[in-house]
Amino acid sequence: MREKRNAIFSSNRLKLGLFCHNATVPQMSRAPERYYPTWDRSLEVVRRADSMGFEAVVSLASYRGPVQKSPEHCSHMDLEPFTWASAIGALTKHSTIVATVHVPLSSPAFVAKATTTIDHVTGGRAALNLVAGASQIIFDMFGKTVESPEIRYDRLEEFFDILHSFWTKHEEFDHSGTFYKVLGGVSVPKPLQDPFPPIINAGVSERGSDFAAKSADIAFTHIRGTQKDWKVTIGSYKNRARDIYNRDIQVWTHGYVVIRDTQDEAERYLKYYSQDFADDRWVKAWIRELGENLSELRPAQRIHIEGAWAAGGGFPLVGTPDSVLEKLILLSESGLDGILLTALEPEKMLDGWEREIMPRLEKEGMRFPFGDLP
Ligand SMILES: Cc1cc2nc3c(=O)[nH]c(=O)nc-3n(C[C@H](O)[C@H](O)[C@H](O)COP(=O)(O)O)c2cc1C
Repeated sequence: MREKRNAIFSSNRLKLGLFCHNATVPQMSRAPERYYPTWDRSLEVVRRADSMGFEAVVSLASYRGPVQKSPEHCSHMDLEPFTWASAIGALTKHSTIVATVHVPLSSPAFVAKATTTIDHVTGGRAALNLVAGASQIIFDMFGKTVESPEIRYDRLEEFFDILHSFWTKHEEFDHSGTFYKVLGGVSVPKPLQDPFPPIINAGVSERGSDFAAKSADIAFTHIRGTQKDWKVTIGSYKNRARDIYNRDIQVWTHGYVVIRDTQDEAERYLKYYSQDFADDRWVKAWIRELGENLSELRPAQRIHIEGAWAAGGGFPLVGTPDSVLEKLILLSESGLDGILLTALEPEKMLDGWEREIMPRLEKEGMRFPFGDLP
Protein backbone atom coordinates (compact mmCIF):
# COMPACT_ATOMS: atom_id res chain seq x y z
CA MET A 1 0.00 0.00 0.00
CA ARG A 2 2.64 2.46 1.13
CA GLU A 3 4.93 1.26 -1.67
CA LYS A 4 2.22 2.11 -4.24
CA ARG A 5 1.53 5.65 -3.05
CA ASN A 6 4.96 6.84 -2.19
CA ALA A 7 7.42 7.81 -4.94
CA ILE A 8 10.54 6.93 -2.97
CA PHE A 9 9.63 3.26 -3.52
CA SER A 10 9.36 3.73 -7.31
CA SER A 11 10.95 1.22 -9.66
CA ASN A 12 13.37 3.81 -11.09
CA ARG A 13 16.88 2.46 -10.53
CA LEU A 14 18.25 5.91 -9.71
CA LYS A 15 15.80 8.06 -7.82
CA LEU A 16 16.11 11.84 -7.70
CA GLY A 17 15.32 14.53 -5.19
CA LEU A 18 15.89 18.11 -4.12
CA PHE A 19 17.65 18.97 -0.88
CA CYS A 20 17.37 22.04 1.36
CA HIS A 21 15.15 24.36 -0.67
CA ASN A 22 13.42 25.59 2.51
CA ALA A 23 16.83 27.02 3.37
CA THR A 24 19.74 28.87 1.80
CA VAL A 25 20.91 25.77 -0.04
CA PRO A 26 24.33 24.52 0.98
CA GLN A 27 26.30 26.53 -1.60
CA MET A 28 28.29 28.83 0.70
CA SER A 29 28.77 31.50 -1.93
CA ARG A 30 28.38 35.26 -2.18
CA ALA A 31 27.63 35.06 -5.93
CA PRO A 32 24.71 37.45 -6.47
CA GLU A 33 22.56 34.95 -8.41
CA ARG A 34 22.51 32.50 -5.49
CA TYR A 35 19.25 30.93 -4.26
CA TYR A 36 17.32 32.38 -1.33
CA PRO A 37 14.37 30.46 0.10
CA THR A 38 11.51 32.86 -0.38
CA TRP A 39 8.18 31.02 -0.36
CA ASP A 40 7.48 31.84 -4.02
CA ARG A 41 10.90 30.78 -5.24
CA SER A 42 10.96 27.56 -3.22
CA LEU A 43 7.50 26.65 -4.51
CA GLU A 44 8.53 27.27 -8.11
CA VAL A 45 11.62 25.08 -7.78
CA VAL A 46 9.80 22.24 -6.06
CA ARG A 47 6.88 22.30 -8.50
CA ARG A 48 9.32 22.07 -11.38
CA ALA A 49 10.99 18.99 -9.89
CA ASP A 50 7.59 17.47 -9.07
CA SER A 51 6.46 17.89 -12.68
CA MET A 52 9.69 16.19 -13.87
CA GLY A 53 8.94 13.12 -11.73
CA PHE A 54 11.51 13.68 -8.98
CA GLU A 55 10.87 11.22 -6.18
CA ALA A 56 11.72 13.35 -3.13
CA VAL A 57 11.84 16.87 -1.76
CA VAL A 58 13.86 16.90 1.44
CA SER A 59 13.85 19.87 3.81
CA LEU A 60 16.74 20.95 6.01
CA ALA A 61 16.29 21.35 9.77
CA SER A 62 18.45 24.27 10.78
CA TYR A 63 16.85 27.23 12.66
CA ARG A 64 20.01 29.29 12.26
CA GLY A 65 23.33 29.18 10.44
CA PRO A 66 26.78 28.81 11.96
CA VAL A 67 27.97 32.43 11.45
CA GLN A 68 27.90 34.15 14.84
CA LYS A 69 27.28 37.79 15.73
CA SER A 70 25.82 38.47 12.24
CA PRO A 71 22.07 37.94 12.43
CA GLU A 72 21.69 39.39 8.92
CA HIS A 73 23.93 36.69 7.38
CA CYS A 74 22.10 34.64 4.75
CA SER A 75 23.06 31.29 6.36
CA HIS A 76 20.37 31.97 8.99
CA MET A 77 17.57 32.10 6.45
CA ASP A 78 15.32 29.06 6.44
CA LEU A 79 11.64 28.20 6.61
CA GLU A 80 10.49 25.75 9.30
CA PRO A 81 10.40 22.23 7.79
CA PHE A 82 6.97 20.91 8.92
CA THR A 83 5.00 24.02 7.99
CA TRP A 84 6.94 24.41 4.73
CA ALA A 85 6.56 20.71 3.84
CA SER A 86 2.83 20.78 4.50
CA ALA A 87 2.26 23.83 2.27
CA ILE A 88 4.53 22.43 -0.45
CA GLY A 89 2.73 19.11 -0.14
CA ALA A 90 -0.64 20.74 -0.80
CA LEU A 91 0.67 22.24 -4.05
CA THR A 92 2.48 19.25 -5.55
CA LYS A 93 1.25 15.95 -6.92
CA HIS A 94 3.96 13.32 -7.15
CA SER A 95 7.11 13.80 -5.06
CA THR A 96 7.47 12.48 -1.53
CA ILE A 97 7.61 15.49 0.78
CA VAL A 98 10.10 15.01 3.59
CA ALA A 99 10.01 17.02 6.81
CA THR A 100 13.25 17.00 8.78
CA VAL A 101 13.27 17.20 12.57
CA HIS A 102 15.97 17.37 15.25
CA VAL A 103 14.82 14.67 17.61
CA PRO A 104 16.21 16.25 20.83
CA LEU A 105 14.48 19.56 20.04
CA SER A 106 10.97 18.17 19.62
CA SER A 107 8.51 15.73 21.16
CA PRO A 108 7.11 12.47 19.79
CA ALA A 109 3.48 13.59 20.26
CA PHE A 110 4.04 16.68 18.10
CA VAL A 111 6.11 14.92 15.43
CA ALA A 112 3.62 12.03 15.12
CA LYS A 113 0.75 14.47 14.62
CA ALA A 114 2.62 16.87 12.31
CA THR A 115 3.84 14.04 10.04
CA THR A 116 0.36 12.51 9.93
CA THR A 117 -1.05 15.90 8.96
CA ILE A 118 1.37 16.15 6.02
CA ASP A 119 0.48 12.58 5.06
CA HIS A 120 -3.21 13.56 4.86
CA VAL A 121 -2.50 16.85 3.06
CA THR A 122 -0.44 15.00 0.42
CA GLY A 123 -2.64 11.92 0.03
CA GLY A 124 0.06 9.62 1.43
CA ARG A 125 3.27 11.25 0.15
CA ALA A 126 4.89 12.21 3.46
CA ALA A 127 8.17 10.97 4.88
CA LEU A 128 10.09 11.93 8.00
CA ASN A 129 13.82 12.61 8.22
CA LEU A 130 14.80 12.02 11.84
CA VAL A 131 18.13 13.71 12.58
CA ALA A 132 19.95 13.55 15.86
CA GLY A 133 21.47 17.01 15.32
CA ALA A 134 25.13 17.83 15.81
CA SER A 135 25.26 21.66 15.89
CA GLN A 136 25.67 23.15 19.36
CA ILE A 137 24.95 26.63 17.97
CA ILE A 138 21.45 25.49 16.98
CA PHE A 139 20.93 23.60 20.22
CA ASP A 140 21.94 26.70 22.22
CA MET A 141 18.81 28.46 20.95
CA PHE A 142 16.75 25.69 22.60
CA GLY A 143 18.83 25.59 25.79
CA LYS A 144 20.02 22.05 24.95
CA THR A 145 23.38 20.31 24.69
CA VAL A 146 24.39 18.02 21.83
CA GLU A 147 24.72 14.54 23.30
CA SER A 148 27.35 11.91 22.52
CA PRO A 149 26.45 9.53 19.64
CA GLU A 150 25.71 6.72 22.15
CA ILE A 151 23.18 8.82 24.07
CA ARG A 152 21.66 10.60 21.09
CA TYR A 153 20.86 7.34 19.33
CA ASP A 154 19.46 5.80 22.54
CA ARG A 155 17.18 8.82 22.57
CA LEU A 156 16.36 8.46 18.90
CA GLU A 157 15.42 4.80 19.33
CA GLU A 158 13.08 5.61 22.20
CA PHE A 159 11.59 8.53 20.24
CA PHE A 160 10.98 6.27 17.26
CA ASP A 161 9.31 3.60 19.44
CA ILE A 162 6.88 6.23 20.75
CA LEU A 163 6.16 7.54 17.24
CA HIS A 164 5.41 3.96 16.29
CA SER A 165 2.91 3.72 19.17
CA PHE A 166 1.19 7.01 18.26
CA TRP A 167 0.87 5.90 14.63
CA THR A 168 -0.23 2.30 15.13
CA LYS A 169 -1.94 1.88 18.53
CA HIS A 170 -5.69 2.08 18.66
CA GLU A 171 -5.82 2.04 22.47
CA GLU A 172 -4.52 4.78 24.76
CA PHE A 173 -0.95 4.00 25.76
CA ASP A 174 1.48 5.04 28.48
CA HIS A 175 5.23 5.15 28.09
CA SER A 176 7.84 5.64 30.74
CA GLY A 177 11.41 5.42 29.48
CA THR A 178 14.85 6.97 29.93
CA PHE A 179 14.13 10.15 27.97
CA TYR A 180 10.35 10.39 27.57
CA LYS A 181 7.14 9.95 29.49
CA VAL A 182 3.74 9.73 27.82
CA LEU A 183 0.45 9.34 29.67
CA GLY A 184 -2.74 8.49 27.79
CA GLY A 185 -1.08 8.68 24.36
CA VAL A 186 -3.53 8.94 21.45
CA SER A 187 -3.04 10.23 17.89
CA VAL A 188 -6.02 10.31 15.55
CA PRO A 189 -6.31 10.20 12.59
CA LYS A 190 -3.71 7.58 11.77
CA PRO A 191 -1.39 8.25 8.82
CA LEU A 192 -2.76 7.29 5.40
CA GLN A 193 0.37 5.22 4.74
CA ASP A 194 0.24 1.84 6.34
CA PRO A 195 1.76 1.31 8.87
CA PHE A 196 3.31 4.82 8.82
CA PRO A 197 5.23 7.22 6.54
CA PRO A 198 8.75 6.18 5.51
CA ILE A 199 11.60 7.08 7.84
CA ILE A 200 14.87 8.60 6.69
CA ASN A 201 17.97 9.00 8.82
CA ALA A 202 21.33 10.67 8.19
CA GLY A 203 23.46 9.17 10.95
CA VAL A 204 27.04 8.44 9.96
CA SER A 205 28.57 7.33 13.28
CA GLU A 206 28.53 3.62 14.15
CA ARG A 207 25.38 4.09 16.24
CA GLY A 208 23.84 6.37 13.61
CA SER A 209 24.31 3.84 10.81
CA ASP A 210 23.00 1.10 13.07
CA PHE A 211 19.82 3.07 13.77
CA ALA A 212 19.33 3.64 10.03
CA ALA A 213 19.87 -0.06 9.25
CA LYS A 214 17.43 -1.13 11.96
CA SER A 215 14.62 1.38 11.56
CA ALA A 216 14.92 3.63 8.49
CA ASP A 217 13.72 3.09 4.92
CA ILE A 218 16.46 5.34 3.58
CA ALA A 219 19.93 6.08 4.95
CA PHE A 220 21.29 9.43 3.76
CA THR A 221 25.02 9.49 3.72
CA HIS A 222 28.11 11.16 2.29
CA ILE A 223 29.83 9.43 -0.64
CA ARG A 224 33.55 10.16 -0.78
CA GLY A 225 36.79 8.76 -2.18
CA THR A 226 37.04 6.22 -4.99
CA GLN A 227 34.33 3.96 -6.36
CA LYS A 228 35.68 1.24 -4.09
CA ASP A 229 35.03 3.50 -1.08
CA TRP A 230 31.49 4.28 -2.33
CA LYS A 231 30.71 0.57 -2.49
CA VAL A 232 32.01 0.02 1.03
CA THR A 233 29.95 2.92 2.44
CA ILE A 234 26.75 1.95 0.66
CA GLY A 235 27.27 -1.75 1.40
CA SER A 236 27.83 -1.07 5.08
CA TYR A 237 24.24 0.18 5.50
CA LYS A 238 22.63 -2.42 3.24
CA ASN A 239 24.57 -5.41 4.62
CA ARG A 240 23.96 -4.40 8.20
CA ALA A 241 20.22 -4.03 7.51
CA ARG A 242 20.06 -7.39 5.74
CA ASP A 243 22.42 -9.44 7.93
CA ILE A 244 21.44 -8.14 11.37
CA TYR A 245 17.89 -6.87 10.97
CA ASN A 246 16.66 -8.98 8.05
CA ARG A 247 15.35 -6.03 6.10
CA ASP A 248 16.21 -3.96 3.03
CA ILE A 249 17.21 -0.33 3.12
CA GLN A 250 17.85 2.24 0.41
CA VAL A 251 20.94 4.44 0.47
CA TRP A 252 20.82 7.99 -0.91
CA THR A 253 23.29 10.83 -1.00
CA HIS A 254 23.32 14.47 -2.05
CA GLY A 255 25.37 16.32 -4.63
CA TYR A 256 25.95 19.74 -6.17
CA VAL A 257 25.31 20.20 -9.86
CA VAL A 258 27.07 22.29 -12.50
CA ILE A 259 26.40 21.16 -16.08
CA ARG A 260 27.92 22.97 -19.05
CA ASP A 261 28.79 22.12 -22.67
CA THR A 262 32.45 21.55 -21.82
CA GLN A 263 34.26 20.32 -18.70
CA ASP A 264 36.33 23.48 -18.71
CA GLU A 265 33.26 25.74 -18.69
CA ALA A 266 31.72 23.74 -15.84
CA GLU A 267 34.90 23.93 -13.79
CA ARG A 268 35.25 27.64 -14.45
CA TYR A 269 31.74 28.29 -13.18
CA LEU A 270 32.39 26.12 -10.12
CA LYS A 271 35.56 28.11 -9.40
CA TYR A 272 33.69 31.39 -9.86
CA TYR A 273 31.03 30.70 -7.23
CA SER A 274 32.92 28.43 -4.83
CA GLN A 275 36.37 30.08 -4.82
CA ASP A 276 36.24 33.62 -6.23
CA PHE A 277 32.91 34.23 -4.49
CA ALA A 278 33.33 31.78 -1.59
CA ASP A 279 31.67 33.01 1.60
CA ASP A 280 34.75 32.43 3.74
CA ARG A 281 33.13 33.36 7.05
CA TRP A 282 30.36 30.84 6.43
CA VAL A 283 32.71 28.06 5.31
CA LYS A 284 35.05 28.52 8.29
CA ALA A 285 32.19 28.72 10.80
CA TRP A 286 30.59 25.61 9.34
CA ILE A 287 33.81 23.58 9.38
CA ARG A 288 34.43 24.68 12.98
CA GLU A 289 30.89 23.58 13.84
CA LEU A 290 31.57 20.15 12.32
CA GLY A 291 34.50 19.86 14.71
CA GLU A 292 37.20 19.74 12.03
CA ASN A 293 40.34 21.63 12.97
CA LEU A 294 41.59 23.39 9.84
CA SER A 295 44.92 24.36 11.39
CA GLU A 296 45.85 20.68 11.62
CA LEU A 297 45.46 20.18 7.87
CA ARG A 298 48.02 20.65 5.11
CA PRO A 299 47.27 23.78 2.97
CA ALA A 300 46.19 21.69 -0.03
CA GLN A 301 43.82 19.60 2.12
CA ARG A 302 42.42 22.72 3.68
CA ILE A 303 41.72 24.39 0.34
CA HIS A 304 40.09 21.20 -0.90
CA ILE A 305 37.77 20.89 2.12
CA GLU A 306 36.85 24.57 2.10
CA GLY A 307 36.21 24.49 -1.66
CA ALA A 308 34.04 21.38 -1.39
CA TRP A 309 31.80 22.95 1.27
CA ALA A 310 31.57 26.28 -0.58
CA ALA A 311 30.56 24.34 -3.70
CA GLY A 312 27.60 22.76 -1.87
CA GLY A 313 29.02 19.78 0.02
CA GLY A 314 28.24 16.25 -1.04
CA PHE A 315 29.03 14.57 -4.33
CA PRO A 316 30.30 16.76 -7.22
CA LEU A 317 28.17 16.44 -10.35
CA VAL A 318 30.25 18.91 -12.34
CA GLY A 319 30.92 18.57 -16.04
CA THR A 320 29.29 17.91 -19.39
CA PRO A 321 25.97 16.04 -19.65
CA ASP A 322 27.87 12.89 -20.64
CA SER A 323 30.41 13.06 -17.82
CA VAL A 324 27.66 13.72 -15.25
CA LEU A 325 25.69 10.78 -16.65
CA GLU A 326 28.78 8.59 -16.34
CA LYS A 327 29.12 9.48 -12.65
CA LEU A 328 25.44 8.78 -12.01
CA ILE A 329 25.79 5.37 -13.63
CA LEU A 330 28.85 4.56 -11.50
CA LEU A 331 27.00 5.63 -8.34
CA SER A 332 24.03 3.45 -9.26
CA GLU A 333 26.30 0.50 -10.07
CA SER A 334 27.87 0.96 -6.63
CA GLY A 335 24.45 0.36 -5.07
CA LEU A 336 23.20 3.93 -4.61
CA ASP A 337 19.41 4.22 -4.83
CA GLY A 338 18.94 7.97 -4.97
CA ILE A 339 20.59 11.37 -5.06
CA LEU A 340 19.34 14.74 -3.83
CA LEU A 341 20.44 17.68 -5.94
CA THR A 342 21.47 21.20 -5.02
CA ALA A 343 22.72 24.06 -7.20
CA LEU A 344 23.56 27.73 -6.90
CA GLU A 345 20.62 28.51 -9.20
CA PRO A 346 18.26 25.53 -8.90
CA GLU A 347 15.86 26.80 -11.59
CA LYS A 348 18.60 26.82 -14.24
CA MET A 349 19.97 23.52 -12.99
CA LEU A 350 16.53 21.89 -13.38
CA ASP A 351 16.21 23.29 -16.93
CA GLY A 352 19.52 21.68 -17.86
CA TRP A 353 18.68 18.47 -16.03
CA GLU A 354 15.39 18.09 -17.88
CA ARG A 355 16.95 18.85 -21.25
CA GLU A 356 20.23 16.96 -20.97
CA ILE A 357 20.23 14.43 -18.14
CA MET A 358 16.70 12.99 -17.99
CA PRO A 359 16.72 11.71 -21.60
CA ARG A 360 20.16 10.17 -21.05
CA LEU A 361 19.06 8.46 -17.81
CA GLU A 362 16.01 7.08 -19.61
CA LYS A 363 18.09 5.88 -22.57
CA GLU A 364 20.43 4.06 -20.17
CA GLY A 365 17.46 2.35 -18.48
CA MET A 366 18.13 4.12 -15.18
CA ARG A 367 14.70 5.77 -15.17
CA PHE A 368 11.37 5.33 -16.89
CA PRO A 369 9.95 8.34 -18.72
CA PHE A 370 7.67 10.06 -16.19
CA GLY A 371 4.20 8.76 -16.90
CA ASP A 372 5.44 5.31 -18.04
CA LEU A 373 6.32 4.16 -14.54
CA PRO A 374 5.18 0.58 -14.04
C1 LIG B 1 22.59 13.89 3.81
C2 LIG B 1 22.57 14.43 5.22
C3 LIG B 1 21.55 15.33 5.61
C4 LIG B 1 21.53 15.88 6.90
N1 LIG B 1 20.56 16.79 7.23
C5 LIG B 1 20.62 17.40 8.44
C6 LIG B 1 19.69 18.41 8.81
O1 LIG B 1 18.78 18.78 8.05
N2 LIG B 1 19.82 19.01 10.03
C7 LIG B 1 20.80 18.65 10.89
O2 LIG B 1 20.90 19.23 11.97
N3 LIG B 1 21.67 17.67 10.60
C8 LIG B 1 21.61 17.06 9.41
N4 LIG B 1 22.53 16.08 9.09
C9 LIG B 1 23.50 15.66 10.11
C10 LIG B 1 23.07 14.30 10.68
O3 LIG B 1 21.84 14.38 11.33
C11 LIG B 1 24.07 13.76 11.68
O4 LIG B 1 24.06 14.54 12.85
C12 LIG B 1 25.46 13.74 11.13
O5 LIG B 1 25.45 13.08 9.88
C13 LIG B 1 26.41 13.04 12.12
O6 LIG B 1 26.04 11.69 12.27
P1 LIG B 1 25.96 11.03 13.69
O7 LIG B 1 24.77 11.62 14.41
O8 LIG B 1 25.78 9.56 13.45
O9 LIG B 1 27.24 11.36 14.40
C14 LIG B 1 22.54 15.51 7.82
C15 LIG B 1 23.56 14.59 7.43
C16 LIG B 1 23.58 14.06 6.15
C17 LIG B 1 24.65 13.04 5.80
